[in-house]
Amino acid sequence: MRRGPSLEFVELKGTLALVTGGARRVGRAIALELGAAGADIAIHYGRSQAEAESTIADLADHGVEARPVQADLSNLESAASLPDRVADAFGRPANVLVNSASGFPTDSLADATPESWRSAQTLSLGAPVFLTQAFARLLGDDPGAVVNITDVRTATPYKTHFSYIVAKGGLDAFTKAAAVALAPSIRVNAVALGVILPPPGEDEAFAAKLASRLPLQRVGGTDPVARAVRFLVEDDFVTGEIVRIDGGGHLIPA
Ligand SMILES: NC(=O)c1ccc[n+]([C@@H]2O[C@H](COP(=O)([O-])OP(=O)(O)OC[C@H]3O[C@@H](n4cnc5c(N)ncnc54)[C@H](OP(=O)(O)O)[C@@H]3O)[C@@H](O)[C@H]2O)c1
Repeated sequence: MRRGPSLEFVELKGTLALVTGGARRVGRAIALELGAAGADIAIHYGRSQAEAESTIADLADHGVEARPVQADLSNLESAASLPDRVADAFGRPANVLVNSASGFPTDSLADATPESWRSAQTLSLGAPVFLTQAFARLLGDDPGAVVNITDVRTATPYKTHFSYIVAKGGLDAFTKAAAVALAPSIRVNAVALGVILPPPGEDEAFAAKLASRLPLQRVGGTDPVARAVRFLVEDDFVTGEIVRIDGGGHLIPA
């Protein structure tokens, strides 16, 4: 990762970013933003192979190298092996990791099962943990940056996505623990999202209704998220920070 003109700014050109869930939706927007800034991109996907190829074709317009990597992140061994596979594919390790892949499963404290609990903790917390561990091992003392994508509702939890929101709360704590553990060479930050896109399976009207309660009264879309991730990768004096991208949603009652 090259330093830019000032010590507080990292030049993205020539870096290699691994973006999990990078084929579609939020992950795709992050991949395109980092690619537009000159980073080569490893697009991780689970099932969306065609969308991964399409994102890679769009990245080619920026003249950067982009390749797909498939892995089921509900398997922690697969998650842990991903940074090695990226290094093999590109001939060098990634120095930026964005943990965006997640599910949005429904359960409550009353009806959670060991399986619904394990599944949410594995995908939304365990995979980022073991991806980060493997990413850091490969980098050694070289500089790097990790950005975790979390949920602003960890502070004002949903009743209906219990296991998910507890996993994301764990991701908030992991962001800070990893920032301490991996300093000074690797910075670890997060962005906490509010109403950015309709949840999978819901339409624009659903998101617009949620957004009407927000101080900024609109759905965020993916651009503000992508810009925040880029800031957290580029700014060299920020670590352990969780930036809310939520239109002020944290200021109102759940
Ligand atoms: N959208 C929002 O408004 C919002 C709000 C709050 C927080 N967030 C957080 O922001 C991040 C991105 O949001 P999003 O809406 O883009 O997420 P999403 O559409 O729910 O999921 C992102 C990607 O995760 C991947 N994924 C899911 N299960 C996987 C598995 N077992 N193995 C490998 N990959 C798997 C999928 O990749 P494939 O399609 O390739 O299978 C999917 O495209 C997530 O962490 C989410 O929790 C989003």
